[in-house]
Amino acid sequence: MKAIILSGGKGTRLRPLTYSGAKQLVPVANKPILFYCIDNIVRAGIKDIGIIISPETGQEIRDAVGDGSRWGIGIKYIIQDMPGGLAHAIRTARDFLADSSFVMYLGDNLIGAGIEKFVDEFNRNKPEALILLKEVENPKQFGVAEISKEGRVIRLIEKPDVPPSNLALVGIYIFSRAIHDAIERIKPSKRGELEITDAIQELIVMDRNVESFVLDMWWLDTGKKDDMLTANAIVLDEWLKENIEASVDERSNILGRVSIGSGSIIKASKIRGPVVIGENSVIENSFIGPYTSIGNNVKVTGSSVEHSVIMDESELKDLERLEESLIGRRVKITKNHTTHKALRLMLGDDSMVEV
Ligand code: DAU
Repeated sequence: MKAIILSGGKGTRLRPLTYSGAKQLVPVANKPILFYCIDNIVRAGIKDIGIIISPETGQEIRDAVGDGSRWGIGIKYIIQDMPGGLAHAIRTARDFLADSSFVMYLGDNLIGAGIEKFVDEFNRNKPEALILLKEVENPKQFGVAEISKEGRVIRLIEKPDVPPSNLALVGIYIFSRAIHDAIERIKPSKRGELEITDAIQELIVMDRNVESFVLDMWWLDTGKKDDMLTANAIVLDEWLKENIEASVDERSNILGRVSIGSGSIIKASKIRGPVVIGENSVIENSFIGPYTSIGNNVKVTGSSVEHSVIMDESELKDLERLEESLIGRRVKITKNHTTHKALRLMLGDDSMVEV
């Protein structure tokens, strides 16, 4: 079995972070989301992985992931010349996939456990498609499945105005080569994309076997700010290992599960886990509260930060309380110490600020 990971697309919902980079590389607990996808595929024993990239952000993804030696496998890159949809991405990867069955993993999806069990199930039952479903509160934002009383998939529909159920399609699928025939039979959707949801629906119309599983673990589509913060909190809570390589002075206090990378310095600060801090960051006279990820080369002074993600090379100074915030790279936030209260801002397009 092979696997493709979809890391093309536009990433419009995570702007402004995605103006300067690929959304699949936005970090969750200081590790790019895409790396969790690769971990999961490799853990399921799949060694033949192709990553679909766009001409715009492809190089950045290649630089971050490399040739796969970090995972002990080889990785191929497949350029999709335009974001033509998930089924279009499969078509683009046709030479790489040949007639093999394959896992398709969306590079911005994160789930709470491995995919081994689904790969085993697929190999045992040999359906033409195995899909994963999860109950959600906002099905209109996803592909949605209608299931019969016996648990059979009756119909799949992409981002419906009137959802037939609250079961969303998770962005992890396993297909046999039959999916290629189905893709040849579908037309672009209202949003102008060749939808994988329509291709699977076509398999149902063709009377092919489509198996489904309802996930009993957490699942996050990290395309939006709040999901990013939730993903960060869950991953820190469940997977963070304690590991302190930093220099911590005697006036500092570290409580709970905390990981701090080498070269970082903690001075006169309190850190209450779960918290991850990268390398060469400086935290001084500050409080870093639970569910916070701080990247590399970050400087935090005289501030209190909680439930937030602060990416590389940013600087926070004299902030009374920063919470539930997603701060990109090389951002500077300082308190204004002048007598008249004024906000002085320089924000990129699509920024969001609550004061
Ligand atoms: O996350 C699950 C949802 O993913 C499913 O419920 C939907 O049925 C499915 O269509 C998909 O919906 P999204 O609108 O969230 O997909 P998005 O455009 O965000 O693309 C998902 C990933 O695939 C993302 O990492 C970018 C990549 N991609 C996307 C397109 C359209 C490509 O590599 N090429 C593409 O042409």
